[in-house]
Amino acid sequence: MNRIYCDIAATTPIDSKVLELMEHTQEYIFGNPSSVHIFGQEAKAVVERARIQVAESLNCNSSEIIFTSGGSESNNIVLQNTLNAGDHFITSSYEHPSILKTASHLGSKGIEVTLVLPSSDGSIDKNSVYDACKSNTKLISIMGVNNELGTLNPIKEIGEFCASNNILFHSDVVQMFGKTPLNISEFNIDFLSFAGHKIYGPKGIGVLFIRKGVTLPPLIFGGGQENNLRAGTENVDAIAGFGLASEIATSNLDDNIEHLTQIENCFLNSLQKNDVDFMLNGKNRVPGICNLTFFGISGQTLLLNLDMQGIAISFGSACSSGSVKASQTLLEIGMSEEDALNTVRISFGKPHTFEDCEKVAITIANQVKKLKNTSISHG
Ligand SMILES: Cc1ncc(COP(=O)(O)O)c(C=O)c1O
Repeated sequence: MNRIYCDIAATTPIDSKVLELMEHTQEYIFGNPSSVHIFGQEAKAVVERARIQVAESLNCNSSEIIFTSGGSESNNIVLQNTLNAGDHFITSSYEHPSILKTASHLGSKGIEVTLVLPSSDGSIDKNSVYDACKSNTKLISIMGVNNELGTLNPIKEIGEFCASNNILFHSDVVQMFGKTPLNISEFNIDFLSFAGHKIYGPKGIGVLFIRKGVTLPPLIFGGGQENNLRAGTENVDAIAGFGLASEIATSNLDDNIEHLTQIENCFLNSLQKNDVDFMLNGKNRVPGICNLTFFGISGQTLLLNLDMQGIAISFGSACSSGSVKASQTLLEIGMSEEDALNTVRISFGKPHTFEDCEKVAITIANQVKKLKNTSISHG
């Protein structure tokens, strides 16, 4: 069976050039970057080259880039290292669990937390963030693009507000990087989190951008790697892979956006041509993440039926899939529980062709018809 993977927002396949570089690095550049001899210095050069590639892809200074184990760790570092008892923290109620669960943990340690609700269009209204501010607000964290809906948030405006009110601003751009321009010199952002496995790079590697002049205490004490913030011998081949993946993602950004827009339009048009009754959730989205409600059809059942046809989609986000609870994100934007249970996420990326998206649409149309007939015959 020819399988089609439509869960790009959960993780991407690795780019073949990235894989080639990583294999080469793993085999030949095995020195410890902290060693003084040539083997160590070669490894250090690989790490620093990758840091420059990431910095160039964001238009920032390489000293502002810290390698971490992924988006979750980058988010944790910022929240756990900037806030103290008595501080006020604002985030949104539909962030990734690595923000929400950390926020609730901080809440139990005397940090005041305000969760701002998203609007029904799937984005955060900047005014609701401004209105939530208090004299003790120390940090605001709002994701650039929501992982389930693909909706964009006004992080540029919120960043400007934070800068003029002396508030630190963090954004989780795990789903944004490589899908829309992100020239950090045009944004007032203190911290950014992103991950290699969402940009056709390796898993288990991420980045935290920390604006020059903003300091954080060490998270892991030890040999002083990563600017004394995160000790431990560097994952050199993953770092090399991340560097190249970020360069590829940003140097081909316009082509990627064009490709994703065309693929998404082809898919949605094809669903319509095949008379499928659906609703596309969220406005002002990055192309490629389609959050779709198929009325009267269980999202979980549709996922399982499509899986048997070789098509991989997701019910909710990857981190919460496996449960048949309605997605909290969808409930947060005001969707009824029934509609949320009838909703799936189908996400496209670089590998998809027009043929793929036509095939996915036709298979969905057949499955939706079949499931509708089953529910009618069951009364
Ligand atoms: C918006 C968002 N933030 C953070 C993460 C976590 O990233 P990682 O898996 O690299 O820890 C994800 C992954 O799904 C995500 O979508």
